[in-house]
Amino acid sequence: MDKTIIKNKNCRICSSQDMTLFLSLGEMPLANAFLAKKELTKPEPAFPLDVYFCKNCSLVQLCDIVDPKILFKNYTYLTSASRPLVKHFVDLSKEVADNFLQSASDLVVEIGSNDGVLLGGLKGHGQVLGIEPDEKIADLARNRGIRTLTNFFTSSLAEKVAKEFDKANVILANNVVAHINDLKDVFDGIKVLLADDGVFIFEVHWVGNLIGDGGFDQIYHEHLSYFSLNALNKAADLWGLKIVDVKKIPIHGQSLRVYMKKTGEVLNSVEQLLEEEGELGLLKESTYHDFAQKVKRSKDSLVSLLMGLKEQNKTIVGYGAPAKGNTLLNYYAIDGEVLDCIIDTTPFKQGLYTPGTHIPVLAPEVIKKQPPDYLLLLAWNYAEQIIEKEKWYLESGGKFIHPLNAVIL
Ligand code: TMP
Repeated sequence: MDKTIIKNKNCRICSSQDMTLFLSLGEMPLANAFLAKKELTKPEPAFPLDVYFCKNCSLVQLCDIVDPKILFKNYTYLTSASRPLVKHFVDLSKEVADNFLQSASDLVVEIGSNDGVLLGGLKGHGQVLGIEPDEKIADLARNRGIRTLTNFFTSSLAEKVAKEFDKANVILANNVVAHINDLKDVFDGIKVLLADDGVFIFEVHWVGNLIGDGGFDQIYHEHLSYFSLNALNKAADLWGLKIVDVKKIPIHGQSLRVYMKKTGEVLNSVEQLLEEEGELGLLKESTYHDFAQKVKRSKDSLVSLLMGLKEQNKTIVGYGAPAKGNTLLNYYAIDGEVLDCIIDTTPFKQGLYTPGTHIPVLAPEVIKKQPPDYLLLLAWNYAEQIIEKEKWYLESGGKFIHPLNAVIL
């Protein structure tokens, strides 16, 4: 048995074995495992990317869990590198400071604190403590003056933190809950660390967005769970916490910001979204089979569009090399025969090759020198900003292609 991957037989929330596989994207390399040229000839590890629906609690999840040491080895996602994300966190820090912190001695702990952007906005409003497993990224936060522990958050770490620092008035976790396999242990840790009147605020991708317009390409090995509020509510019920408020927020498509407490009044927002999810069919197995059919259809549409363009000898370049782009390229089998290269502003990606499909990632200047006929918008979540920035390209006769619906913009 390969030790780099474990297979969950039970649902991560309710432990049921009644799970159904509805979408199989095949064996794929890790979405962030970009390759240096010398690695192109070596065997590339690939892992199943299969998505399951739990018929008992409705959690959508991966059951093939890659060892976190391998999964996060190439973790290079920096919050500070994304302007929209920085603004998002500045706004969130204001909300937390205004609504949840009473005094500068209150403790705020962030799980997966990355390079410290969110906690940076809270310094002075409370005592801040980051928990970040990646040493290099934790150092970036320390350089900003954010006290940071280099560790994964677990219930035993929560006990140590509560002893050494105090109970937390606020615990934050953004885009990290979906990365955690042993969710119960994390919830146990929250109960240990959170003050009795404290609040746990976290953000996760919303499965309603994923199966709507959000795009299947958000599915990759790092994202173990695709949450609905209903599934999270079940987890809270089982593990002794309460969801008291929820907001839909326009980040990564649409995400949920969830507010959990040990006790407290539950706002109407919770009931409303629980009901809305029922109406959207998020609790029904058939919804996910329909979604899988939609994914197959969008593959056919884009592949036939691109093949048609190649037959006309058109040149096509990818725009942006996000992790999700690698799910799409691998599942659609779009390689260097179709895309001449991919341009990306992230310096460390430039000069590398995409995992699985081996397309070179280059600095954006190449399209200025030689504009291609088409740009495939792999970073489609930034479509508006990119199109605004690259007006010159459209004006010079170039065209963008949205990869999910194969529409030429
Ligand atoms: P993200 O969706 O995970 O934030 O990744 C977006 C990727 O797209 C990231 O590698 C940076 C790249 N990108 C560009 O190359 N140019 C751009 O104008 C934008 C907005 C993103």
